[in-house]
Amino acid sequence: MQRIEEIAALRAALAPMRRAGETIGLVPTMGYLHDGHLALVERACAENDRVVVTIFVNPTQFGPGEDLDAYPRDVAGDLKQLAAYPVDFVFAPAVGEMYPEPMQAHVAVEPLGDILIGEQRPGHFRGVATVVTKLFNIVQPDRAYFGEKDFQQLAVIRRMVADLAMPVGIVAVPTVREADGLALSSRNVRLAPADRAAAVVLARALEEGAAMIGAGERDPETVLAAMRATIATEPRAALRSLDLRDAATLAPLDRIGERPVVTLVTALFGEVLLIDQRVAEGKEQGVTP
Ligand code: PAF
Repeated sequence: MQRIEEIAALRAALAPMRRAGETIGLVPTMGYLHDGHLALVERACAENDRVVVTIFVNPTQFGPGEDLDAYPRDVAGDLKQLAAYPVDFVFAPAVGEMYPEPMQAHVAVEPLGDILIGEQRPGHFRGVATVVTKLFNIVQPDRAYFGEKDFQQLAVIRRMVADLAMPVGIVAVPTVREADGLALSSRNVRLAPADRAAAVVLARALEEGAAMIGAGERDPETVLAAMRATIATEPRAALRSLDLRDAATLAPLDRIGERPVVTLVTALFGEVLLIDQRVAEGKEQGVTP
């Protein structure tokens, strides 16, 4: 496993492999790796001849006053964890390597990137789409791996790749959870112990919503009201958003139909913003148990 910090060096290392017909898998991360990231790495290693993991805390996807400075970093620890996998390259550029000058070119996926989390964090998905495009251009992967936990990010990237005919396969990997259901996130380490214990309420509410939908509930507002009530039982949770959308398009729904839906939640615990999601399938119309 080779650590590389410069774009030119990574391109030079990958070129002969690509010429030899080897497939390249890309796992873009912001570091502080946990088992959720490692599930992406494992899948990439199983499906490609060569694997590049990138570690870059991308400043352009953080708004003013967001947690860019507080975002946890531990490249040495990340390298130690990655050494257990057949990863070929860890690309960990400095901010000046990725952004030598203020960017004038950007990739915006609209309106998909402006709704939901995009409404709470204006410019966030433009920063994500732009840096992911840049990483695609640097690595030119055959496949790139993203977690389902960041469901809207995955939808934005899929749409960007489709709309711009980017020659890369997007592979979605299921959310990895703690034993109590909390979705793994690099931000979890910043939770105070009482908030860490409280945060499980999000997974509980999502499970409750999915169970209601699975049992045949068709009214999104009924599902959301029950989930809101569950989250309200936890005084440490400051609910920021709770939505039920079509899982493929993220469009709002008047009624839950045959297509899979997704419930999406964001909540603050102390100063830490957690996000989670769950896809649910409605019971088929006309089918009685
Ligand atoms: O999901 C993340 O860690 C980041 O948004 C990504 C995709 C690495 C882009 O900076």
